[in-house]
Amino acid sequence: MSKKIVILTGAGISAESGIKTFRGANGLWENHPVEEVASPVGWERNMELVLDFYNQRRQQLVKCQPNKAHFALVELERQYDVVVITQNVDDLHERAGSKKVIHLHGELLKMRSSVDENLVFDCLNDIAVGDKCPKGSQMRPHIVWFGESVPRMEDAILEVSTATKVIVIGTSLSVYPAAGLLNYATPESSKWLIDPDTIYVPPVANLEFIQKKATEGVPELAHQLLQNENCVI
Ligand code: OAD
Repeated sequence: MSKKIVILTGAGISAESGIKTFRGANGLWENHPVEEVASPVGWERNMELVLDFYNQRRQQLVKCQPNKAHFALVELERQYDVVVITQNVDDLHERAGSKKVIHLHGELLKMRSSVDENLVFDCLNDIAVGDKCPKGSQMRPHIVWFGESVPRMEDAILEVSTATKVIVIGTSLSVYPAAGLLNYATPESSKWLIDPDTIYVPPVANLEFIQKKATEGVPELAHQLLQNENCVI
């Protein structure tokens, strides 16, 4: 189990579970400009709208199920030490059964104090204006918004830099610092990028672009990696 596979996922892996990607519709996210619902400025401007937006996303999430791509990544754990680093705020990797998941951009099923980011709580229901943490500050979604720091970034860098294989799935690689993670992979490590669209393929060593949807490309690659643990691909 010494061989480590690190997986970096984005919205594309959950698209076939029914969760919309961010940049699929003219930069609008479920009809909102991203800045309106995913930035501290948006929060200050209209707390109710932001809470309502994430309440709807949470209600939608509980009706969605992990897909074949999420499950295929769990299969890899039979032979590899697998770490999933996800930009997604859904819990579909966990529900599929992945054991090590790092959420770079937070989690929909958690909420936190709007004053102290370390006061984090489970959140299965809607958050309303006036819902306060035990210390008296307004609750907000436990989501990393634009302009905020990414607390799990150091952990993610460590995982990528010690991986023998790196698989990137369904991300436009357009939001930093997450988009820069591939640069921390060693040149010797094997790398794959799975995405159905013609996207920017970063110029890193040993990277193969698999132009397929996640539910097709991920199970195929997982099968290949499980067939031959020592394969050179
Ligand atoms: P994007 O919406 O930017 O990119 C989604 C990617 O998924 C695109 O490259 C699509 O081509 C691809 N895609 C679409 N359908 C797919 C499928 N069936 N299988 C595989 N890939 C598919 O989403 P992210 O890169 O995840 O941040 O966006 C990064 C961050 O921007 C998000 O985490 C979010 C957002 O603003 C925050 O909320 C802080």
